[in-house]
Amino acid sequence: MSIEKLLLPAVLALWVGVATAEAQDIAQPLGLPPAPRQIAGTPTMRKLGEQLFFDRSLAANGTLSCAMCHIPTQAFASNQSALSIGMEGRSLRRNAPSLYNVVFKKYLFHDGRETDLTAQVWGPLLAPDEMGNTGIGPLLTRLRVQPDYRAAFDAAFPGEGVSMTTVGRAIAAYEATLLLGESRFDKAIFGGDRNALSTEEWRGYDIFISKGCASCHKIESDTALFTDQSWHNTGVAFRQTAQTARVQVQLAPGLVKEVDLSGLRLAPAPPRDIGRFEITKDPADRWAYTTPMLRGVSKSAPYMHDGSLSSLEEVIDFYDVGGGPNPVLDAKIRPLNLTREEKAALLAFLRAL
Ligand code: HEC
Ligand code: HEC
Repeated sequence: MSIEKLLLPAVLALWVGVATAEAQDIAQPLGLPPAPRQIAGTPTMRKLGEQLFFDRSLAANGTLSCAMCHIPTQAFASNQSALSIGMEGRSLRRNAPSLYNVVFKKYLFHDGRETDLTAQVWGPLLAPDEMGNTGIGPLLTRLRVQPDYRAAFDAAFPGEGVSMTTVGRAIAAYEATLLLGESRFDKAIFGGDRNALSTEEWRGYDIFISKGCASCHKIESDTALFTDQSWHNTGVAFRQTAQTARVQVQLAPGLVKEVDLSGLRLAPAPPRDIGRFEITKDPADRWAYTTPMLRGVSKSAPYMHDGSLSSLEEVIDFYDVGGGPNPVLDAKIRPLNLTREEKAALLAFLRAL
């Protein structure tokens, strides 16, 4: 076979890779794959998307932007509340996840119900308890009457202007820039700089691998997204049921008492949030949630789909005792019996991400 015949497929593969898949004008931090070009779009789209992401006028009553629940200094999550606070102070049933590296996430939301980042945008825009738009039309009209937005959409999407698709594409393009890699972890593992991690952090890394954390929070040979792009029942939702046995009861106006119902031996109430099951109706998916990506995790407390664990120490203790036992607990979750030093090392490792 001639050398050309051998080289052609390689050259083609390279060309296809460069031309269709990768956004070359976004820096690719060490330890991450290239951002998919299809989503990352152009610099003009990303700039428009950024403006939309921070704009409170996208909410029906002009009070809430994406950035108010996905706060940039808090790893694009929110530290203040376990459950997100939406329209008119209403409490949502889930915790706002970090948006770092979300462009690589195959199943979006804690239950993985959405697979397209550009379509996902309309979830919060239309949810009555989030940004509360009563329909797509009213929001598009509000954007179209603003000359600045009209011009920006025309520049970003010539011939298309303001539409359901272009709003989604612009915001998703901005989200594709929220990349977190190049951490000390990446420098040590992928950059060959062993000293980037301390001895204790290396020990934490070994525990992360040997105790099975990495079987779900995956590390590949040249990149690490810390997710297996799947969902698991670690028992968080189930454990929450047991806790809600304590309820606040109002005995008289102004007199509220916490009452423990667990002694009453009531039949256990089913958890209100059943996770992936709500989408698939497959009993095996009960209380299963998508595997979060862990980058910047020290900044995105509180943790888990319901924000029920307030610190990384609590998360480690949760795994140490084998999660929240329940009939369909993931087989990979089991008691670890970590020593105090091992817990500290694991914590140090998580903080180095
Ligand atoms: C009121 C708070 C709030 C607002 C406003 C909000 N979000 Fe969210 N966001 C959440 C919560 C809570 C979830 C998880 C919901 C679930 O899993 O059911 C979420 C999930 C997401 C996800 C999925 C992340 C993942 O890891 O799967 C993306 C992407 C996202 N939001 C982007 C946006 C964008 C873009 C906007 C603005 C158009 C926005 N959000 C507005 C609270 C909010
Ligand atoms: C069976 C798969 C699996 C294993 C094993 C596993 N995790 Fe997780 N991890 C998950 C899932 C799924 C969630 C989300 C659960 C939820 O939202 O209720 C999660 C959540 C977390 C979170 C919270 C992240 C956030 O943003 O809320 C941290 C931190 C974490 N895991 C660290 C670890 C560590 C450390 C280990 C090893 C001791 C480990 N995980 C083992 C699947 C796993």
